[in-house]
Amino acid sequence: MTSGSVTSATARRELLKEVYEQARGCIACQLHETRTQVVFGAGNANADLMFIGEAPGADEDRLGLPFVGRAGKLLDQLLGEIGLDRKDVFIANTLKCRPPSNRDPYPNEIESCSGYLRSQVELIAPKVICTLGNFSTKLLREDSTGISRLHGRDEVRTIGTRAIRLLPLYHPAAALYTPSNLQTLRDDFARIPDLLALDPPPQPAPAIEPAPAIEPAPAIESAAEPGPETQRAPASDGRPEPAPGTEPSPVAGDAQLGLF
Ligand code: URA
Repeated sequence: MTSGSVTSATARRELLKEVYEQARGCIACQLHETRTQVVFGAGNANADLMFIGEAPGADEDRLGLPFVGRAGKLLDQLLGEIGLDRKDVFIANTLKCRPPSNRDPYPNEIESCSGYLRSQVELIAPKVICTLGNFSTKLLREDSTGISRLHGRDEVRTIGTRAIRLLPLYHPAAALYTPSNLQTLRDDFARIPDLLALDPPPQPAPAIEPAPAIEPAPAIESAAEPGPETQRAPASDGRPEPAPGTEPSPVAGDAQLGLF
């Protein structure tokens, strides 16, 4: 199952790796101080189906991969029940860094990180996005309606330059703790194959100026003016330079991306 966009599979992977390299050195919010590593996302860069969760937890922070803990096992199981596995999909999160003690993401963190997610969506160009839980649903819908009202109802949304079918789902972690949520999640998952079988929705007219594939990361956010340690000249493309000592190694991240 692969996307039919004009971007070639190889070009898409390479561009995605560039975004990953940028994210690896990101210091745009306070989470860079406590993360073990950036959890960029993993899976098939040419997938028609993308899942977007909330934020890495302890296991993800340790291993550098999304959804590798208990919620991830449930996600794998639900994928299997509809005949898919991880090599068919791309899995990312709203935040690329773990919030301490798994607290909820703060608005400034979501805002700081959103450029990476938008670049991922733009490059992967999935036919269907399943948001998992409130944070990714609210971000992509640009609306505060909660997941309990929206789950299982697909709609077409313009995200970046594309119209994409969006299917909000309960977060698997919520289903782990509440059996009735698990059955609801399973029922909603069962809708995915039908959505994937549909033709892509009509696309918006292309902008005169093509949108850049990689959006600039937002400026460093902090309560006060950034101090000299965090204030650095932007790169020529406007994105912040990596923090000293966090410069990505020259070997790009096939391992973390898990590109199949
Ligand atoms: N929960 C998430 O939202 N993302 C992960 O990667 C793991 C748990």
